[in-house]
Amino acid sequence: MKKTWWKESVVYQIYPRSFQDSNGDGIGDIPGIISRLDYLQKLGVDVIWLCPVYESPNDDNGYDISNYQGIMDDFGTIEDWEELLEGLHQRGMKLIMDLVVNHSSDEHAWFVESRKSKDNPYRDYYIWRDSKNGGEPNNWASFFSGSAWKRDETTGQYFLHLFSSKQPDLNWENDKVRREVYDMMTWWLDKGIDGFRMDVINLISKIPELPDAAGDGKYNFGGEHFMNGPRIHEFLQEMNREVLSKYDVMTVGETPCVTPEEASLYVREDRGELSMVFQFELMDIDAGPGGKWNVTPWKLIDFKRIMSKWQVELDGKGWNSLFLNNHDQPRMVSRFGNDGAYRKESAKMLATLLHTLQGTPYIYQGEELGMTNVKFASMDDYRDIETINMFNEYLESGRSEADIMASIYSKGRDNARTPMQWDGKAHSGFTTGTPWLQVNPNYTEINVKESLEDPDSIFHYYRRLIELRKQHEVIVYGHYELLLEEDEHIYAYTRTLEDERLLVILNFDEEPVTFELPETVVYESAEVLIGNYVLPAGASVRRMELRPYEAQVLKLK
Ligand code: NOJ
Repeated sequence: MKKTWWKESVVYQIYPRSFQDSNGDGIGDIPGIISRLDYLQKLGVDVIWLCPVYESPNDDNGYDISNYQGIMDDFGTIEDWEELLEGLHQRGMKLIMDLVVNHSSDEHAWFVESRKSKDNPYRDYYIWRDSKNGGEPNNWASFFSGSAWKRDETTGQYFLHLFSSKQPDLNWENDKVRREVYDMMTWWLDKGIDGFRMDVINLISKIPELPDAAGDGKYNFGGEHFMNGPRIHEFLQEMNREVLSKYDVMTVGETPCVTPEEASLYVREDRGELSMVFQFELMDIDAGPGGKWNVTPWKLIDFKRIMSKWQVELDGKGWNSLFLNNHDQPRMVSRFGNDGAYRKESAKMLATLLHTLQGTPYIYQGEELGMTNVKFASMDDYRDIETINMFNEYLESGRSEADIMASIYSKGRDNARTPMQWDGKAHSGFTTGTPWLQVNPNYTEINVKESLEDPDSIFHYYRRLIELRKQHEVIVYGHYELLLEEDEHIYAYTRTLEDERLLVILNFDEEPVTFELPETVVYESAEVLIGNYVLPAGASVRRMELRPYEAQVLKLK
């Protein structure tokens, strides 16, 4: 595989609203981020992915953009943003910005014009259709509950919104829309940014007839008509040709519901589209037949099968991105580890996995502290539009409140969005005002200050993992081979690059378990590179008693 800086990087994701407030209004902001750059440098990350900081009425916390070239007042000014970029570059870090162009805000000037009349020059910037049989133009469901269409009084036509009704979908069939997007991207790149994370980028090409979705609900998921749609690769190749290829940047496309085969079309090095994609197969592992909120237990065998499939199928073809949580997902230690008695051990074990696979690891803010999910007693304390809409819809359909709250506690997006826990002071040092979303009450024991002081903390473990990646090429580029496929407790694999070989052993259980190295793995000596427990002197790698959530990374010779 071709060697590039973004393959060798570790990315840190900042959700600006929840990172650090600097002016006491309870909302994180850019000067707040600037005040924490030394912290990020200490952690050792290479790239910051900044979630949207653009002007927005905040229906979906900035993923509804009303001006792509302006900064939201809550977050600061363009001068603050320039200082942030400079501060990062001075410290040897890079910045990638969120690009949200499947949809804009309904308060964007384009949409304000578009809705005025059928012959407005901006009409075709969005997707408008007549009513069908007195109802919506088709039966598609919005990702945020209800129909994906809204009728607009002025002309009586409906516009498409796959997300909230304040997030109308842009019409990528229109050349002018694509030109506007490319010019806007160029404007940011000329300011010196290092790439983009592209929001739901595989949704931008819809089958123009917008056929009904299969299913017997009132509204149904229409993914087959807009995911990886007919012109998607043409659009991305055009974007690459017109914009991206002129800069040395990284791009990561958020692409729900892709298979490795489809993903390789986005990321294969000979295709000129994206550097890597975020795929969500693992994130669906605990979704039941009723979808994401219908939480079902997951099994390690399935977890390993999914991870291994992506490791093997993209090897030599395209690049993986590695993550176990982000601003849309619950906290990884609560979901895949143990956020009670073994919080530290399991957070380190999961980190070991993410940082020893082929691909670029993404750390979501607070993950390096082992931040956990939260349980607010009342719906009034929740802020996320997806969660609130789902709550109302399910309540109306007769589900009990207790049942819905249980789903929210395990899957709600606000789990990840509680403010960053900096210290044990009021509101965790996030703000001197009232936080827009309450701080997780466990901040008195889980916070940055405590983590920096404790040499054995999760934070310092992450720091060491990031350092190791810089020292051993095999961690970045090595081939992956799964061991003990059928084991229900242990996840073990090797990574090999020429004569360098690593053995990674992870106990996913809170019970001790015996690890036996398959005879096929032959070695003369084994040196521990990192682990979350100290290996007893004289321990043999052939047969080891693993402690709860134990993780060991060994270099075999
Ligand atoms: C994916 C983003 O990560 C999520 O936060 C947002 O709600 C949707 N796309 C819509 O932009």
